[in-house]
Amino acid sequence: MDFIFDLMGRFHPLIVHLPIGFLLLGLMMLIFDRKENKHQKIIRFTFFWGTFSSLAAVLTGTIQYTREGYPWEDIQGHLILGVLTFVFSFLMYLKLKGYAFFKRISYQFLGYALVVILSITGHLGGNLTHGKDHLSAPLPDEIKQVLGLEVPSRTLVLHPETHRELPFYSGVIQPILDQKCVSCHNPKKTKGELLLHNFKGIMIGGEKGSIISIIKPEESEMLKRIHLPRDEKKHMPPKAKIQLSKAEIKLIEQWVSMGTPENKTIAELRLSQSFFSSFFPKDETGIYPDPVLDPLDKSVIDSLMAMGLQVAPLYKTASLLKISAINFPDFDDQKAVVLLKALDHIVDLDLGQTQVTDAIFEVIQQFKYLTVLKLNRTAISGNGINKLNNLEHLKQINMINSNFEAVHLEEMYSFPALEKVYLFGTSANQSTEEIPDQFQPIFERGNYKLDEDVEENL
Ligand code: HEC
Repeated sequence: MDFIFDLMGRFHPLIVHLPIGFLLLGLMMLIFDRKENKHQKIIRFTFFWGTFSSLAAVLTGTIQYTREGYPWEDIQGHLILGVLTFVFSFLMYLKLKGYAFFKRISYQFLGYALVVILSITGHLGGNLTHGKDHLSAPLPDEIKQVLGLEVPSRTLVLHPETHRELPFYSGVIQPILDQKCVSCHNPKKTKGELLLHNFKGIMIGGEKGSIISIIKPEESEMLKRIHLPRDEKKHMPPKAKIQLSKAEIKLIEQWVSMGTPENKTIAELRLSQSFFSSFFPKDETGIYPDPVLDPLDKSVIDSLMAMGLQVAPLYKTASLLKISAINFPDFDDQKAVVLLKALDHIVDLDLGQTQVTDAIFEVIQQFKYLTVLKLNRTAISGNGINKLNNLEHLKQINMINSNFEAVHLEEMYSFPALEKVYLFGTSANQSTEEIPDQFQPIFERGNYKLDEDVEENL
């Protein structure tokens, strides 16, 4: 029967549109009817359904939150405002009913409050489903700057596997300059008599001569300018313009300190991948490590897929893998041995809804780059989970609706990188196990404390 709740949760994105419609219609009718006051009854009817549907939205939303492992920090604003939408809609309904108490609260107050609350709730909800920059992404960078929004550096995207073959200057440095400097330092508009649109221009320098010092690279005018405090008049790019990111500054610094090589590739210059990783295309979370690994043999990937596992590369060309047994309900501890063929390549492993048991930890402990582990709806009790404490990248474990037992919580305290453990729907929910303060934020248990008299009735 559990699936009914999951299903109800999934309806949330649909149901939320009902209160929006009802409440907006109700508010519009209130304005329309404000002089004659002839349509109170139908307006009340609209707010009745607005109230009812916002309650349904709150309930389905809460189900979705608890069952699908959304972190509380992400949804708190949306949830609280959702509840407020319901409350204000109900107050409006009661006022329309003519209760004397509500005479003192004006329609204007309730109306404006509803518009504000409803808009913000909807906006936050949209952010949850479509991502934070959903609305702002199409705006031109200039407008984003005025609004104080983050301006993403769109032009430079590097691929984890192929970037090493690029010439450092033309593949990385010049694209950065093109984006942040060339609008003022080009043949048409040559501020400071300096050209930055090609290698020659950079080498020639500006009105005060060379901007690169070969003898003391760290004292180069180019570096001095980008390091000056942003408020300083000589800071580059000027304070009103889109600034260089920290990663970009590091790269320019590196290039100058290496003597501004023109044609050498990143591989030839033996530059560490860490300089470039912030320019790799972001996966959903950007939490994965970036070891330099040879891609896994295609025949191995094929054999895993032939078994029924889903195997997907993390980045288009990279060697790290996401493996999921989501369509493989018979997958069990014995079958898991095949995963050892992809030992170093697995960073995201989903064994939810399979037959695996605690014995699986024996296998999993060998996946040294494993970052996300999902064991939802399995018979895992957590016995032996301490074996994973050598996994230096393991950040997230999902064990929603598994048999996880609270006694094994403390075995995870020593995990070096752990950030979140989702335990909704496990007995760890009800457990009184005291988690020390510093580990509290890691464990999402859905700590709903029931009143004692409610508990007695269950
Ligand atoms: C909005 C226009 C603008 C942008 C964008 C801009 N600059 Fe400038 N830059 C100027 C102006 C104006 C001057 C001349 C005044 C001064 O020296 O501060 C100048 C001067 C310089 C000079 C000194 C040249 C000399 O010989 O005196 C350097 C070096 C420089 N810019 C580097 C950069 C770099 C690097 C970037 C990109 C990260 C950049 N600028 C982006 C407007 C800009």
